[in-house]
Amino acid sequence: MTPAPGLPASIDETHGRLLGQDYVADRRLATAVFLALTLERPLFLEGEPGTGKTEVAKALSRSLAAELIRLQCYEGLDVNLAAYEWNYARQMLEIRLGEAAHESREQIATSLFSERFLIARPLLRALLPQPVRPVLLIDELDRADEPFEAYLLEVLAEFQITIPELTTIRAEQPPIVIITSNRTREIHDAVKRRCIYHWVDYPDAARELEIVRRRVPHVQEALARQIVEFVRDLRSLELYKLPGLSETIEWGRALLALDRTTLDPKTVDDTLGVLLKYQDDLARVRDSEAARILERIGNATAATERAMAAAERD
Ligand SMILES: Nc1ncnc2c1ncn2[C@@H]1O[C@H](COP(=O)(O)OP(=O)(O)OP(=O)(O)O)[C@@H](O)[C@H]1O
Ligand SMILES: [Mg+2]
Repeated sequence: MTPAPGLPASIDETHGRLLGQDYVADRRLATAVFLALTLERPLFLEGEPGTGKTEVAKALSRSLAAELIRLQCYEGLDVNLAAYEWNYARQMLEIRLGEAAHESREQIATSLFSERFLIARPLLRALLPQPVRPVLLIDELDRADEPFEAYLLEVLAEFQITIPELTTIRAEQPPIVIITSNRTREIHDAVKRRCIYHWVDYPDAARELEIVRRRVPHVQEALARQIVEFVRDLRSLELYKLPGLSETIEWGRALLALDRTTLDPKTVDDTLGVLLKYQDDLARVRDSEAARILERIGNATAATERAMAAAERD
């Protein structure tokens, strides 16, 4: 099966396109994105906070020069805000104008529910014809209520929206759909079944280092390595909230803003709030873990330097 023109033709090309937007994907994610594009299926990304789910949609839309249409989910999100809404104010005005022009009730009624009075919200907008297939990001679906998920089924399965007063609007070309969830609750199987599923995990050390290099320009290599090592050690602890990639990047930027070129106990202590956002976690790491991690990183760095020096001598 060949993908549509303009879309990447292979997993490697998908990886390369994302990299062109400074998004460092692993092979599995690049495969999932490639398949979603080629099979025209929504991509369902689930994972811990700050692991790069939302950014996939942003990077992908930029790489395809496609519009990003974003639907942020929250409790109480309904069809009026997600799909379409009738413009009541303009309808009222139309009634007044019709009455003033002595139009019949029927004449007024038929004109009221036409596309002129329809306000397209993200889901509907994504189905309307566009020069380039847009990327529809349905972000944090786990925050929406279950009835909304049920509504979404028709959109995802048929790429259509039924407006009872008007018609059924069907996309000529399905949009590229990316759904994310932080898994605060399970998303219904019926939604998942229609999607290609990918669990977004914390990256391995090499990938996280590459991400820091790209997202924190001008950071010195040695500091970048220490940052990644430190955050990875933190993730091995039983903390209430583990730092995600956003925290790693933010910490890099913070240390750069403070003109630091290496990690020392005082700097770590002063800036720990960039990585950890719960007082219990902060207290625990400050009291005992930070010094231990720094020592381990120091030993590991020294060992690497000794190995490199030995390799140069041989
Ligand atoms: N693979 C990656 N390559 C480059 N940058 C990344 C990558 N993953 C994440 N980032 C960066 O990390 C930050 C967090 O990513 P993002 O907001 O996409 O996470 P998320 O999983 O959507 O988090 P949340 O669940 O909190 O919404 C962003 O600044 C993003 O640019
Ligand atoms: Mg997100």
